[in-house]
Order: sequence, then C-alpha cells, then structure tokens
Amino acid sequence: MKFLKPTNDASRELLYELISGGSGILLGLFMFGHTALMASMLAGARGFDWVAEQFGRFHLDEPVVIVIFLLFLVHAVFASRKIPAKLEERRRILKLSRDLRAANGFQPHLDSLLWIWQVRTGMVILVLGSFHIILIGLDVFTPLFGERRGLEAQSTLEREQAGLWLPYVVLTICVAFHTAVGLYRLAVKWGVGARLSRRSLKVAEHVILWSMLGLGALTLTVMAGWISPPLAGLFGGAP
Ligand code: HEM
Repeated sequence: MKFLKPTNDASRELLYELISGGSGILLGLFMFGHTALMASMLAGARGFDWVAEQFGRFHLDEPVVIVIFLLFLVHAVFASRKIPAKLEERRRILKLSRDLRAANGFQPHLDSLLWIWQVRTGMVILVLGSFHIILIGLDVFTPLFGERRGLEAQSTLEREQAGLWLPYVVLTICVAFHTAVGLYRLAVKWGVGARLSRRSLKVAEHVILWSMLGLGALTLTVMAGWISPPLAGLFGGAP
C-alpha cells in the first residue's frame, strides 16, 4: 500500500491548508467586527457600555471569547507548520533579488518580503494577542476588573490610561498588516486572482490595511484619553 502514501500526504496537506486558511478568514472577519465595535468608544463611555450591554444581554461575550481563543490557537499551530522550510526558501529568493538589484536595479521580490513580515507580525500577535485574550477572559468571566463580571468602558479606559495603550499600538499595527496581507495572499492562493486582477486585490489589501490602522489608531487615541470622543453627541454628550 506504499503507493497510496503520496495521495494521503497530499490530502492531509490540503486539509491543513483548509484549516489554516479557513481559521485565518474567520479571524479576519472577526477583526473587522472587533475594529468596528471598539470604535463605539468614539461615542464615549456610554457608547461603549451600550455595545457591551447588548453582548451581555444575549450572553454572547463568554462564548465569543472561548471560540476566538480556540480559533486563534488553531490558526497559530496550522499556519506556522511550514515556517522553517519556507523561511529558508524565501530568504534565498530575497537574497537573489537583492543581488540582482545591486547589479541592475531589479526590485526585491515583494511577495517574499511580505511573507517574511507576515511571519514576524504573526509572532508578535501570538504573544500580545494571547495576553490580550487572557486579560479579556478575566474581565468577562471574573469580577477582577470593575465592579462586576463583563466588559465595561471604565475598566477599559483605566487599563489603557495606566499604560496598556503601548502594547495595543503594537498589536493594532501588527493585526492590520497581518489581516490585510493574509487575506490578499489567501485570495491569490485560492484563485480569486483568476476573476479579479492582481491590481484590484492590491487595492483591496490597502483599503483593509489603512482602514483598520486609521480606525484603530483613532479609537486608541480616545481610549488613552488624548482626545475627547468625537461622537459623544450621539449618546447625549460626554462622558
Ligand atoms: C476574544 C474576543 C475579544 C474580545 C471580547 C476583545 C475585546 C477587546 C476590548 C474590550 C478592547 C479594549 C481594550 C481593553 O479593554 O483592554 C480590545 C482592544 C484590542 N483588541 Fe481585542 N478582543 C478580543 C480578541 C482580540 C483578538 C483575537 C485580537 C487580535 C489578535 C484583538 C486585538 C485587539 C487590539 C489590536 C486592540 C486595541 C484597540 C483597537 O485597535 O481596537 N482582540 N479588545
């Protein structure tokens, strides 16, 4: 039965690709929602608390934290399985294109450069993202922060203003890059490029990157207390 082995390896590889790509898409979609929901802070503490209350009312916060943490771990394990072998290959391609550039002005291989930064931002997200989800888990499952279990604007603002804004800035940059480049690479890999030109995919990648960075940075600036919430009027003024 030895002749079956390559087919088994190939179908296992396909399954792993589907798991790492599928979990990546789900996490990407979650991050769009996350960025939009965090932006409720632009309407002040009342805006954020209103959103948090809706989550609490429908008992959504506990299952969301558990499902996202599991998805996060599954994605980290399956997406990193090929890193050592591929890193070597990508480094060789980059070195070759750099040598060519030195010789005749050739551009370094952009996709290899993006892939290497995809791995670097993934490592940062693994550390800071795990810390963040555990912190949010403590907030949702225990009364450690604030006066009760569950998310509250007061605890979020206190944490940010005590200095957590700094790791969140790093996490926001890494997540925006990793999501935009990751979805672009999946679209190319899974053949969306056959229907849309590479140029349109690049435009979509830039729209995702800059909107996540822009909205994330504005939200963080409000959470850190550096500017007052610009949409506070929606909930009857500050706070
Ligand atoms: C498990 C579900 C999650 C919930 C309920 C949640 C909730 C929150 C909350 C309440 C904040 C405000 C800061 C704080 O209170 O400490 C925040 C900020 C942030 N979270 Fe999450 N989070 C979740 C998962 C994630 C994941 C998986 C990532 C990416 C790895 C992430 C990335 C960020 C970033 C970058 C910020 C900074 C502010 C921003 O850019 O919006 N979060 N999150």
